Amino acid sequence: MTLTRLFLTHKYVLRTLTLTLVALHSLPSSAAGAAIALSPCRNSCGNIAIKYPFGVDDGCGAPQFRHMLNCNASDLFFVTPSGNYKVQSIEYDKQNVVVYDPAMSTCSILQPHHDFIMTDIQSAIIPPSSDTVFALLNCSVDSPVLNHYKNLCFNFSGHSCDELYSACNAFRVFHFLTNSSPPCCFTGYDTVRFMSMNILDCTHYTTVLNTDGLRGIGPLDWVYGIKLSYTFPDTGCGRCAQSGGVCGFDTETAGMLCLCSPSSNSTRQCGKNKLHTT
Ligand SMILES: *[C@@H]1O[C@H](CO)[C@@H](O)[C@H](O)[C@H]1NC(C)=O
Ligand SMILES: *[C@@H]1O[C@H](CO)[C@@H](O)[C@H](O)[C@H]1NC(C)=O
Ligand SMILES: *[C@@H]1O[C@H](CO)[C@@H](O)[C@H](O)[C@H]1NC(C)=O
Ligand SMILES: *[C@@H]1O[C@H](CO)[C@@H](O)[C@H](O)[C@H]1NC(C)=O
Repeated sequence: MTLTRLFLTHKYVLRTLTLTLVALHSLPSSAAGAAIALSPCRNSCGNIAIKYPFGVDDGCGAPQFRHMLNCNASDLFFVTPSGNYKVQSIEYDKQNVVVYDPAMSTCSILQPHHDFIMTDIQSAIIPPSSDTVFALLNCSVDSPVLNHYKNLCFNFSGHSCDELYSACNAFRVFHFLTNSSPPCCFTGYDTVRFMSMNILDCTHYTTVLNTDGLRGIGPLDWVYGIKLSYTFPDTGCGRCAQSGGVCGFDTETAGMLCLCSPSSNSTRQCGKNKLHTT
């Protein structure tokens, strides 16, 4: 009897404690909400969430990714020397970004030839993933990928590049003109990185993503686009975010900053080491 009552009392005390803890816990997160609302960093562009290491406002996100994303109010773009590619999605847990080049040929549309070029930094920290395949089409018989660099071509998930000439309306034209299939090659980003389309001597390319999952699926149903796979060093953004701040950097020195409120930035976390308070 006494034991049960004691137990019940304990239980009540425990529950009260838990509730108090929950209430305390929700405080920092609402503080974080306020900080984000007031921060100079937009946290979305159209329907795409913008989180660390990315930023669409200068001084937001990680400095390595500076100027890589551009938000024009409705659409998010990945900016490269060869053009602005529309961002379809960002998966923060898997660290990938899917982009689409509206000027690229796909199974259903043939467009003029152009190159895919990234900066050296982009190639290092946010290159196309290994399951993004570049299909080089209408190559000349002198193309390096048919001769000296033959081993850079492969077939994936049971598919050969010739399939594109027969399955795709857009690519059937190559076949008509010569009455045979001109050479083609499935290859990885590194090939395109080191050899321009002129050097490769192929007039068109298209890119396909998630190629590991395409066994038994025809080219009409492939997903055309580029999946970029990014990495970034752990510079302590977690600590800043937990303290209610937004990770950013000094636009002059590129040193990390924890943006706490419009009037205060800190080096590491909010509430400590304040740099500027106005
Ligand atoms: C804090 O840093 C951001 C990003 O560099 C900058 O835009 C802002 O002016 C800074 N605020 C203060 C109070 O220094
Ligand atoms: C953003 O850019 C896209 C593509 O260039 C365009 O279709 C869209 O209208 C632009 N939106 C705004 C608000 O400028
Ligand atoms: C295919 O490549 C040949 C040169 O190898 C070129 O003359 C032809 O115009 C290309 N076809 C198309 C449809 O661009
Ligand atoms: C790809 O498959 C085609 C057709 O099955 C075959 O002719 C070609 O040799 C294969 N290429 C490679 C690189 O395995």
